[in-house]
Amino acid sequence: MVKPLWDKGAASPDDRMQRFCAGDDVSWDRALFPHDIRASRAHVRGLLRIGLLTEAECAALCNGLDELHAAFGAGTFVLDARYEDGHTAIEAFLGEMLGETGRKVHTGRSRNDQVLVAQRLYLKEALTTLLTEELDIAGTCLQRARLTMDVPMPGYTHMQRAVPSSVGAWFAAFAEGFTENAFVALAARDAADACPLGTAAGYGVNLALDRQGVAQELGFSRVLVSPIYAQNSRGKVERLALEALHQALLDTRRLAWDLALFVTSEFAFARLPEAFTTGSSIMPNKRNPDVVELLRQLAAVTSGALAELDATLSLPSGYQRDLQGTKAPVIRALSRGLDGLSLLPRLLDGVEFDALRMNVAISPEMFATDRAMELARSGVPFRDAYGRAAVEIVGAAAVTAEQSLAARVSLGGMGNPGLDVVEKRLAEATAAADQRSGTGESGR
Ligand code: ARG
Repeated sequence: MVKPLWDKGAASPDDRMQRFCAGDDVSWDRALFPHDIRASRAHVRGLLRIGLLTEAECAALCNGLDELHAAFGAGTFVLDARYEDGHTAIEAFLGEMLGETGRKVHTGRSRNDQVLVAQRLYLKEALTTLLTEELDIAGTCLQRARLTMDVPMPGYTHMQRAVPSSVGAWFAAFAEGFTENAFVALAARDAADACPLGTAAGYGVNLALDRQGVAQELGFSRVLVSPIYAQNSRGKVERLALEALHQALLDTRRLAWDLALFVTSEFAFARLPEAFTTGSSIMPNKRNPDVVELLRQLAAVTSGALAELDATLSLPSGYQRDLQGTKAPVIRALSRGLDGLSLLPRLLDGVEFDALRMNVAISPEMFATDRAMELARSGVPFRDAYGRAAVEIVGAAAVTAEQSLAARVSLGGMGNPGLDVVEKRLAEATAAADQRSGTGESGR
């Protein structure tokens, strides 16, 4: 293992202790590494501005960091257990490449604020991806809703047939859901958008660091002021990001549940696109919806991650090594969740619905509510109308499912679905997401 940054040359640290403390942290640091490198570049440029580095030293360090970034991207530099963490790898690389100049990179910073800034840059990028996915899913659903609002499908409550609904109404639910979720992601991204770099170990340093300049260079909209709060915020912003993801996955879970039912032979309302089905190793006849089942499972990943975060965050103020444990659940849940969400637009685009099957499943008693309203409209007190409709509808209904849908005229009903209202809100979310991409100069 490369000598730890904290090695002062005294008695060598216990091997097993060291391995236990490092754990698998370095493997999670791979997700943070490009951000750590980018923040390191901004940090040295800040040091140049306050005269702690010469132009030549700053240029050498920036070149070194560029080289490390490129080598990491190309796979020629591997971040592995030789290093205690990504921070150690950066300093070791620069020290080896640049000698004395390389060893200046850590002036005025601690790994405590270094990991915070890398984590926040990573979160901003992940939340921007989440936003993009959510807007894409909402857009796809909206488009399909427009084309299928009048295609009847049974509507269920308690999983019992209730009233005629439509394929478009089903899509409209997810168009609105994912639009609302995008606003949660925007709020989470805003929470992450404050720069903690320059707070050092949690108590500032006796140098006039250009905190604002560094924050600006990194594309943050503001500085996180209190050094102690910078540490105390660790895990909180991660939690908000996970909560934002979880909101999307709660809708994904319902959507996947619905599809898993719709594609059964019993329902046979829908067919998944061939490319989104799998087979069985033993039963040649099977065409399985594994993908919707795994999409349904994703919310379990975020709830587990949220529980782990909450338990980890039971801490006093300031940096505690426990905080290292926030990384794994957050990175794991975000990468798995975002992977899953990225499949949804194409999956939803390709699901085919069987209009005939769905029409057959709309049985006459499902029009009873319509009938009760009809009687109420003609002046019968609703409670009496309810009783009459309950006994009246036994044979064929007097109206078709299409007529029933068209008559649902209050806002949101299939005859007045208000898709323009949702579209407008989706456009607002899109504008807010683009306004500040939230990531600044990409990856550099
Ligand atoms: N791997 C550590 C973490 O994630 C980096 C910070 C280490 N700081 C320290 N004082 N040991 O928290």
